[in-house]
Amino acid sequence: MAVSWSTHLDTVKPFLAMEVMERGMAMSRAGAEVVQLGVGEPGFPPPPEVVRAVTSALEQGHTHYTDSRGLYELREAISKDCLHRRGVHVSPDQIVVTNGSSPALFLAINLLVDPGDEIIILTPHYPCYPNLVAVCGGVPVFVPTSPGDGYLADVAGVKRAVTNRTKGILIASPANPTGAVQPPEVMEALVQLGVPVLADEVYDGLLYDQAVNTSPLAFSEECFVFDGFSKRYAMTGFRLGYVIAPSTAIRRLVSLQQNLFISAGHFVQTAALAALVHGRAHLEMMVGEYAQRRARLVAGVRNLGLSVPVKPLGAFYVLADARHLGQDSLALAFEILERAHVALGPGRDFGEIAEGFLRFSFAAPVDAIDRAMEQLHKAWPSISRMSK
Ligand SMILES: Cc1ncc(COP(=O)(O)O)c(C=O)c1O
Repeated sequence: MAVSWSTHLDTVKPFLAMEVMERGMAMSRAGAEVVQLGVGEPGFPPPPEVVRAVTSALEQGHTHYTDSRGLYELREAISKDCLHRRGVHVSPDQIVVTNGSSPALFLAINLLVDPGDEIIILTPHYPCYPNLVAVCGGVPVFVPTSPGDGYLADVAGVKRAVTNRTKGILIASPANPTGAVQPPEVMEALVQLGVPVLADEVYDGLLYDQAVNTSPLAFSEECFVFDGFSKRYAMTGFRLGYVIAPSTAIRRLVSLQQNLFISAGHFVQTAALAALVHGRAHLEMMVGEYAQRRARLVAGVRNLGLSVPVKPLGAFYVLADARHLGQDSLALAFEILERAHVALGPGRDFGEIAEGFLRFSFAAPVDAIDRAMEQLHKAWPSISRMSK
């Protein structure tokens, strides 16, 4: 029997930072000391109250399906958190809790896109965005941002890219991989273009140098906000996120959630509630540590002769220009992995515009960052020679 694959997935590309990470894991299993700076994995445990909440939830038998929108108490707590962080009131009924912010993005894009419809993506971008759009049958349309403008959204460029097929403008703030944080006037101008803004705020709260993030919710209810517990509370493995959606979208969103995922995990939702109620001090501690790691990593990367055109104001990544070492960032990332035993994110993952760049994550613990820098420093002469 011949298996034939659906063609609409032909444009879906692998997540390259994950591929470098997985090769690095295989090298570690074979005995190499590989330092992982390629993926956004917080180098902290979750808040202790979260861990206690999971144990106690399991003991109390919170192991069932929940309301497909998520536990009401959790949605109430998310609504309070939204008021606290964004100064905006959203009803618990506008929130759908999902297994991470990734399924939240998938649900919302599915809701908006018919085959051939377009989603504008500000680039450099999170690698999964164009793939999520393509899986839903849509067409990603890229609008570049540039280091000269601090990677802020080019509103005029977005306006020029809008067509009668445009269904949304997808932007992350704070952004992966640039760390850019969009100011209020930019976000307001995007909202005023009259196309739903799809704002990925999974790094909100991880901010440095007094940066303040702005949500499109401050200007309109007709937008989608994706958020979660992975980054802010170091809960990547819990797989919990949510989408805040316009009330007109909820009926369709919920029926998609019911059919595709049923509900997020019961005890995991209990843990997320504990993060919102008790996690603030832990978050502040992590942000303080990340600020120090950022300084250490930026200095280390510059020491290697790579330029860091924009110091990140949020999230936990440094996008470094390595174009003098060649134009194939994936080959370079694998070369660095082989020679220095350090896993990095190849720029190509984040769009054509970031080809030749490398993404370093400062989410990793300080000793891992120091070890990585030492290993890179030692191997750098041979890496630079190789790439000539
Ligand atoms: C910008 C961005 N959005 C979404 C995600 C996915 O997060 P989650 O773990 O909530 O699915 C990531 C993960 O790295 C990310 O960088």
